[in-house]
Amino acid sequence: MCGIVGYIGDGSAAPAILDGLRALEYRGYDSAGLAVLTAEGLSVRRRAGRIDDLALLIDDELMSSAIGIGHTRWATHGAVTDNNAHPHADASGRLVIVHNGMTDNVTELRAELLADGHRFASETDTEVIAHLIGIQRDAGASLTDAVGRTLRRLAGAHSVLALAADEPDLLVGGRVGSAGGLVVGHGSSEAFLASDLPAVVRHTRNLQVVEAGETVTLRTDGAEFQDLNSRPRHRRLFSVPWGPMAAAKAGHRHFMHKEIHEQPETLADTIRPRVTLDPAELRLHDFQLPVDAKAVDRAVIVASGSSNFAGMVGARYLRDLARIPASAEVASEFAYAPGPLSDRTLIVAISQSGATADVLLAVERARDAGAPVVALVNTVGSELTRTADATLNLHAGPEISVAATKTFVSQLGALYLLACHVGEQRNILPADQLARRLADIAHAPLAVARALEIEPQIEDLARRFHDAVNFLYMGRGLAHAIALEGALKLKEISYIHAEGFAAGELKHGPIALVSPDMPVVAVALNDELRAKTLNAVAQTRSRNGRVILVATEGDDLEDGIADEVIIVPGTPSLIAPITSVIPLQLFAYHIAVWLGVDVDQPRNLAKSVTVE
Ligand code: AGP
Repeated sequence: MCGIVGYIGDGSAAPAILDGLRALEYRGYDSAGLAVLTAEGLSVRRRAGRIDDLALLIDDELMSSAIGIGHTRWATHGAVTDNNAHPHADASGRLVIVHNGMTDNVTELRAELLADGHRFASETDTEVIAHLIGIQRDAGASLTDAVGRTLRRLAGAHSVLALAADEPDLLVGGRVGSAGGLVVGHGSSEAFLASDLPAVVRHTRNLQVVEAGETVTLRTDGAEFQDLNSRPRHRRLFSVPWGPMAAAKAGHRHFMHKEIHEQPETLADTIRPRVTLDPAELRLHDFQLPVDAKAVDRAVIVASGSSNFAGMVGARYLRDLARIPASAEVASEFAYAPGPLSDRTLIVAISQSGATADVLLAVERARDAGAPVVALVNTVGSELTRTADATLNLHAGPEISVAATKTFVSQLGALYLLACHVGEQRNILPADQLARRLADIAHAPLAVARALEIEPQIEDLARRFHDAVNFLYMGRGLAHAIALEGALKLKEISYIHAEGFAAGELKHGPIALVSPDMPVVAVALNDELRAKTLNAVAQTRSRNGRVILVATEGDDLEDGIADEVIIVPGTPSLIAPITSVIPLQLFAYHIAVWLGVDVDQPRNLAKSVTVE
C-alpha cells in the first residue's frame, strides 16, 4: 500500500504535495516521487528513499507549477529502485500516473502490451496501467474516461491519480476495489486528492470520498464524479473534526511516545460521551445494533494484527457481559473459510484504519452470507464504515505511528461498551450490574494515567534488556491477548524476535527455548488464572530463565518471584488488559529508542495495509 497525493490550485504544487506525502508516509516509505506540469511540460522527480530525499530534487522550475501528483511507495511489484518509484508515464510521455494497489492480472496485461510493441522502463504494474490509459487517450478518450475504462480492465483493488500535459487544468483520480481510499479536499482556491485524511485535513476539512468504481475530475473550483462507464455520480460533502495540531508531535520525540501518553484522554474520549454514572446509563448515541440482540446466537470478531488481539479480549467481553458465544478470528483466515454464518451471527469487524484489505474482504464474505456487521473504527469516513451496517467510532484521534497503541486501548474500551450494550439489550445485565460495569470502565482512563507513571522503571529495564535478541511473552486468559500484543509491539518497532503464547502452553513446547539469553515477559492479572501464570513463571525460573513479571497492585507476591516486577494499578479483572498493556507498549518503545530504530516508521511496515 502506498500514499498518493494530488494538488491543483493557485499555490505551488510541489511543497503541498511533499507536505501531503509526509502525512502519508505511514502507508509506505521506501521510495517517493512527484510530477508537476510547468510551461515546459511534465517534470518528474523520483527516487528510492524517504520524502526528505525527494525534497532535495525540487528546484525552482518545479516550484512554479500549480498542479501535480505525488507518491510514497511500499513496494509490491518491483524492487525498491529509482526506476520503480512513481510517477510512471505512458508510451507518449504526455501523461503520468501514481498508483496504490496491486494488479492481479498484470502478467496478461503486460504480455498484451509487449506484443503490441510497448516497452517498459520499470518492473511495476503501475507503468502497465499508465500505458493502458495512454492507449485509451490515443483512441480519443478524455483523461477521465481513459482512467475509468482502464480501471475496468484491472483485477485487484486500485487507486490512481493521473495528470496529462494536454489537459492542464485538471487532475483525475479513480478507484476500484478496496485499495485504501481516495478523498477529495476542497480549499478556497485549491483542491487536493489523497489516499487518506491526514494529507488533506491540514489544509481543509471539507471533504468528499471517491467510492470504489468511480473517477473524479478535480479542478480548482470543484469535483465531478462519474462511474467507470462515464455516468455522472453525486458525492456529498462532509467535514471532519480533526485539525492539523492533532497530528503534530506536541513536544514528544516520536509520535508513538505521544500516542502512548495520550491514552488517558483518548480512552476517555471513547468512553465518557457514552457513559453516565448518576444515573448509570450507557448511551451509544451514534450507534444502533443492526440486529435484535436477543436473536443473536453467536458473535465473530474479525480483525488483523493488534486489532485482532483487541478482538480476543472483546470476545471474552461478549461472552461474559452479554452471554453470547464469541470468538476472534484473523480476518485473512476468516475471509477464505468463514464457516457457517447466518443472519443471527453478529460480525464485529475491528480496524483502526477502516481500510485493511483483509478485514474488508472478511466483511464482504460475512455480508454475502447475510450476517449483520458492526464495525469498530478510528478513521472517520473510512471504507469499513461504509460497508458495515453500523459503526462504533473510537474517537481516539489520528494515530500516526505505525505501531498501534492508543487505538488498541480505545478498541478495548469500545468493545467493553459494545458488550455492555448487547448484554443490556439481552437482559443479561440488570441495572445494578450494568451500573457497576459502567463505573469500572469509567475509571479506566485514570488507571491508565497511573500505569504511565511507571515509565522511568521501564526505561531502566529497556537499558538493561535491549541487547537480548529473542523474547518470550506469555499470559493466560485475557493476559494471553496482552502477551501477544506486547510481543507484536516489540518485534514491529525493535526488530527483536518475540514470541507470544498462552502461558499454559509453556510446558507443551516453548519451555525448550528457555535460557538466560531469552528473557520471558509474563503477564499475571489479578484474576482466577493468576496462580497458574505464576506457576509458569516458577517453571521458567527453575530452568534459569530471566522473567520480567507484569503484576497488579495489591497482589501479594512472594519476594524474588521474578527477576523484575512491574506493578500496574489494580482494576476489576475485565479492565486489567487495558492497564497491563501500557508497560509493554513503553518497553517496546524504549528498547527501540535504545536500538536507534525508526520508531514511527519501522522497516517493511505500513500503517494501513490495503493489499491482501
Ligand atoms: C499494529 O501495531 C500493527 N501496525 C498492525 O498489526 C495493525 O494492527 C494491523 O495492520 C491492523 O490494522 P487496522 O487496525 O488498521 O485494521
